[in-house]
Amino acid sequence: MSKPRTIAIDGPAASGKSTLARRLARALHYLYFDTGVLYRAVTWAALQRGLSPADEDAMTRLAETLDIQVRPPSQDDGRSNDVWVDGRDVTWAVRAPEVDAWVSVVAAHPGVRRALVDVQRRIGRQGRVVMVGRDIGTVILPDADLKIYLDASTEERARRRYHEARQRGEAVDYASILAALQERDRLDASRAVAPLRPAADAVVIHSDGLDADAVFRRVMDLIRRRNSAPAEPVP
Ligand code: CDP
Repeated sequence: MSKPRTIAIDGPAASGKSTLARRLARALHYLYFDTGVLYRAVTWAALQRGLSPADEDAMTRLAETLDIQVRPPSQDDGRSNDVWVDGRDVTWAVRAPEVDAWVSVVAAHPGVRRALVDVQRRIGRQGRVVMVGRDIGTVILPDADLKIYLDASTEERARRRYHEARQRGEAVDYASILAALQERDRLDASRAVAPLRPAADAVVIHSDGLDADAVFRRVMDLIRRRNSAPAEPVP
């Protein structure tokens, strides 16, 4: 079957994007690329260096010069990729609550986004890729063959993050996870450059009440149906 060469998956935090993307990439033998790690890597490095995430010039310089490496996973501990910054494996460090708290401030700086566009497009344009983020269908790959916007209520998304953290043995409370998620969504959706929103031609899926299997099956059905649809008649 002729599969979509590029699949863009956007949506708010914890809407199930990475789970869906990982499964699609496995089923189609595509590369899975989670663009959030780039913004997280810059944020992690800023906090390490004692730089202010609100300082646009400093964040832009950091994003332009930082050596971020995304490589195949070296360990079987649930990671999809290794993320290396400054010669250190920061795969889990970039998921820390301090990074969660600041990443949307860093990602709102136009200079930071500009610095990270090229690397994302280069990977996207090679094709056979499932790319995940906030602006993949709108800005990074506006010509993506299939665009999915995955959404869910804030409460459902906070519940998922809460259970994931509990499973990792972290002491977390639901109310602070919910508040952090709401703040990140607010910043992501209201920024001037590349705000979080569905592309006009995206298929929007609300996943409240749907488990990961059901979402995956729905997207695979979509891919099959698009393949079997009759070609547009030539006028
Ligand atoms: O996994 P989760 O949905 O919590 O977040 P993520 O995908 O790792 O993204 C972390 C943050 O990076 C988002 O809240 C956005 O502020 C930013 N981001 C972005 O602005 N554009 C992207 N393409 C990906 C992430």
